[in-house]
Amino acid sequence: MVSLYELGIFSGVSLMRLPPWPDDLVGWPLDTAKARFSSEHHGDFNKWANALATLPPLTQLQVSYADTVTAAGTVDDVALTAALQQLHPWRKGPLQIGNTTIDTEWRSDWKWARVAPALGDLSGERILDIGCGNGYFGWRMLAAGAKEVIGVDPTLLFCMQHLAIQYYTQDFRNWVLPLKAEELPSTAQFDTVFSMGVVYHRRDPLDHVRQLAALTHPGGRVVLESLIVEGDADLIPADRYARMRNVWCVPTVTRMQAWMAEAGLINIEVVDVSPTRVEEQRSTAWMRFESLADSLDPNNADRTIEGHPAPIRAMLVANRPNTAIQGASE
Ligand SMILES: C[S@@+](CC[C@H](N)C(=O)[O-])C[C@H]1O[C@@H](n2cnc3c(N)ncnc32)[C@H](O)[C@@H]1O
Repeated sequence: MVSLYELGIFSGVSLMRLPPWPDDLVGWPLDTAKARFSSEHHGDFNKWANALATLPPLTQLQVSYADTVTAAGTVDDVALTAALQQLHPWRKGPLQIGNTTIDTEWRSDWKWARVAPALGDLSGERILDIGCGNGYFGWRMLAAGAKEVIGVDPTLLFCMQHLAIQYYTQDFRNWVLPLKAEELPSTAQFDTVFSMGVVYHRRDPLDHVRQLAALTHPGGRVVLESLIVEGDADLIPADRYARMRNVWCVPTVTRMQAWMAEAGLINIEVVDVSPTRVEEQRSTAWMRFESLADSLDPNNADRTIEGHPAPIRAMLVANRPNTAIQGASE
């Protein structure tokens, strides 16, 4: 295997040699994104880059993108575990390299199982996953037929985790670029656009949903997943929600539908509403910080420690109409 992750020092800043990114992202700030793989952008970059540089080679590679995204083969599992643990905390998975299972904080395969039946065959699709974490869902999308998946996530550690996994899968159809949604050009470039677990972090959620619509080809699909509250009123947390600081609005399902309709989307379908349980989001050897169990009221699991309703999530799918959306920014 070719090591892709050489470190170089340029003007006193450590930068990494990256694998070849897709060259068809028209108008994207790719130079800005590349410059973020640097010690100037993040104080832990050198530690993470050194972890990538020490990943042991794997032979007899066999990939499978089932519930556990797997690169099977022969590898030094001790050296592998030591390198991958340098990229702690691992949140989205499960993932497996050689004999090492990365038991991530989230059973993300459960979320995928909720949306996949509604999406069906993704053959030939070019997909955008906004706030994609380490790109776990991108591998699942490839297995469902997608031609290419572009993920964006501003958390550099998740981009480094993706590079570690991609080093083993040697599959250059699924990408995670360190970009924020608001840095992307709002031009229709994708067959399906996902935003899962992001909209409640946005101060202007309607603007975010409008952007999802604008990024989608006419006739394409938008997948919007969010924490929700039951009842008639959105929850606007005065402070934290389940210990998360940056939750601005937890909508009702009706509000999510209204955002999608307002953004010009049609055929809006609620494909799943499920509570998040401590079996789905939990601390593990690969995510040793506190998790959902520590965010719930110890005397009442229906409430967060702040007294809000415990997490429930809804998954909605809609289409961009074949005609232009009124007022879309293209
Ligand atoms: C709750 S996680 C959801 C991850 C994954 N989509 C899922 O459903 O499991 C939210 C993700 O959004 C990312 N994020 C936060 N602000 C963002 C922004 N402005 N644009 C894109 N992603 C963002 C975070 O880094 C984080 O990985």
